[in-house]
Amino acid sequence: MDELVYGLKLIDKKTETSDTSTLVFEIGEELVDQFKYTAGQFVTLHLMIKGELVKRSYSLSSAPYENAFNITIKKIPGGKASGFLVEDLEIGKIVPMTPPAGLFTYTSKKINTNNITLIAAGSGITPLYSIIKTAVLDEKKIHLIYCNRNEDNVIFDQEIKALVEAGKLKLTSIFSQPSSAWEGLRGRANQETLKNICKEEDPTNTHYFMCGPTGLMDATLSALLSLNVDKKQIHKEDFNPAIYDQVESEDNESVFIGDLAQKSAPGSQITVVLNDETFTLDIDNEKTILENLIENDKNPPYSCMDGACMACMAKITDGLVSQDDPGILTEESIADKEILTCKAKLASQTAKIDYDNLF
Ligand code: FES
Repeated sequence: MDELVYGLKLIDKKTETSDTSTLVFEIGEELVDQFKYTAGQFVTLHLMIKGELVKRSYSLSSAPYENAFNITIKKIPGGKASGFLVEDLEIGKIVPMTPPAGLFTYTSKKINTNNITLIAAGSGITPLYSIIKTAVLDEKKIHLIYCNRNEDNVIFDQEIKALVEAGKLKLTSIFSQPSSAWEGLRGRANQETLKNICKEEDPTNTHYFMCGPTGLMDATLSALLSLNVDKKQIHKEDFNPAIYDQVESEDNESVFIGDLAQKSAPGSQITVVLNDETFTLDIDNEKTILENLIENDKNPPYSCMDGACMACMAKITDGLVSQDDPGILTEESIADKEILTCKAKLASQTAKIDYDNLF
């Protein structure tokens, strides 16, 4: 199945820190509908770099109400795409990308608590900054816990300070290697520290959004669960670039990664929980689960169609699926029975998957 990819013109580039830039795109009138987005969503760029197609997902840092379409990118040492985007890509170029996607979103309808707390490390601030700006309009009580190496690495530093000064945002900064002048929290944020900070708000009346490296997200999740936060109030975004060469998971009875010898019998069926509905479909085993759902007009979430973005993620709750490669799944997420439906094929007579309850 062809991916939906459109070209957007880069019209400005703003330097945020020494290694981070915001790319500002123009949305042509004909693309306004396809590129509408919700705070927290991302796009997947299809970049041709030295003759090689490289796909990378980046969160939007602008907010929907701003009438802007910005992504903010931190250059990763040795990073093929981030280096190209921050350093080489010139204003005026057309950049192919998929429309905004992702379920890590904030809307006033979805988030019904008075408080939101956001936990970011480094460039993990990107989707959270879009969420903060949107939640400010809803007059939410917002607390940002923001971890960085030092004071010079803080993306959106001035903008965040302005929100704090305006009384719109409470900020807790943690620096792992701050200057000697820094008098606040220092070191790596661990479970205990995060628990103490998160206790400052009433956990029953707070939704939590986190974006950062796996270690920080795991520590935050443990801290929140120890405070008895309902999992439905915890939202996480994880663009872990580590793609395992091959994660063999023969011990995992739900997800098989690799060349699956076993073939399911014709006439297999899958039961799907999606958008608060449960339905059962006959499956064409030669196609991915996502392709089957699209062909049956079930409106499943997806973006890159190539295992690179997590938009199509679901959880398998019964049966077996196979993926010939793990895509962006980590060992932990596979152990957690998470699957990428754009890669997964049904490998048992019947199976059940759930898009709605990923945590
Ligand atoms: S659609 Fe991007 S990982 Fe499946």
